[in-house]
Amino acid sequence: MKDEIIKHPATINPPVYHASTVLFRNYREMRLAGKGQLDGPTYGTDRMPVQRAFEKALCNLEKGSVTRLFPSGLSAIQNMFWCFAKSGDHILVVDNAYGPGVSFCRKILTQFNIETTCIPPSAGKDIIDFIRPETVLILLESPGSNTFEIQDIPAITAIAKEKNIITALDNTWATPLYLNPFDLGIDISIQSVTKYISGYSDVLMGALTVNQKYADILKNFYSRMELYAPENDCYMALRGLQTLATRLRQHEQSAIQVARHLEQHGKIDCLFHPALPSHPEHHLWKRDFQGSSGLFGFTLKQEYNDRELAEFIDSLKLFGLGYSWGGFKSLLTAARQRRRMPSRYSGKRIIRLHIGLESPEDLILDLERGLTKLP
Ligand SMILES: Cc1ncc(COP(=O)(O)O)c(C=O)c1O
Repeated sequence: MKDEIIKHPATINPPVYHASTVLFRNYREMRLAGKGQLDGPTYGTDRMPVQRAFEKALCNLEKGSVTRLFPSGLSAIQNMFWCFAKSGDHILVVDNAYGPGVSFCRKILTQFNIETTCIPPSAGKDIIDFIRPETVLILLESPGSNTFEIQDIPAITAIAKEKNIITALDNTWATPLYLNPFDLGIDISIQSVTKYISGYSDVLMGALTVNQKYADILKNFYSRMELYAPENDCYMALRGLQTLATRLRQHEQSAIQVARHLEQHGKIDCLFHPALPSHPEHHLWKRDFQGSSGLFGFTLKQEYNDRELAEFIDSLKLFGLGYSWGGFKSLLTAARQRRRMPSRYSGKRIIRLHIGLESPEDLILDLERGLTKLP
């Protein structure tokens, strides 16, 4: 008994195994493993215990059937296409989906004879106009990257179901806590775990969760491709998941406070935060979401050159300049929108803010002070 306690102490968080080889207890087990009949990991790539624990926890939160993990959010998106589309197929991708995902479709999938059509950022019933007999999959992201348009997800999934088309939603902004994709008829939920779920800007990971209908397809694809996520990262992601609800509530409250303040600012033109009534698809957000997170954007009334903008941006003390979001530190990006479809924000420079866990009053002061640097 003493030895057992020393070998396997009862810790709250599961132990991390660093392993390539996993030893079988006897030859019988080895033979069962060879036939794929042994429960549990048979090799270091075979979803070690912490990976399995994190998959299970995320899958429960998503109310899905199976979850599998990838080395990044982008990798999850790419593998979803490899798993569910084949040569000759056609896919629809919302125009405001995460840019590198859209480029992957347009530059790589075309080489494998999979064609992509972009659909409007606030698509709904009009999706019908884009569907072809060979359309197999629709990728949505709501709110979409940088411009935050919301799609009418139930209207789209109703049409897709009739036509037996798979629907996937990049749900990184809302997380399963603030929008449940499966409740709205989605088949595949995508998370960049890198963002809110891991929560500290020190993990890269993505997840796909599917409903019962697609569970075996994903499981078989994943094991054949010998995909896996590193145990250390799974440990950090599982730990992040425990505090997600508390952190997200704070991101939500602070972001709304900062956004409301900025909306009144004389130098700001359009502010797009789905939870504010000024957002064009606020009614859809209210209908489908249970909350909002810390990421939103705005445009400025005047066109500023790079030197003028640098005066504002470089003067900020609390906002880091960097990609990604979802951690405790507030971040800013500023980029022109290059889109394939006409949109109210085409060609405009969008300042995107991720509101972290600092005091919202301090963040407002920092932005106020910074904006005075603009002529
Ligand atoms: C909405 C969205 N999805 C997916 C990704 C890709 O995630 P990762 O950085 O984990 O590859 C990002 C990254 O910024 C994102 O913003």
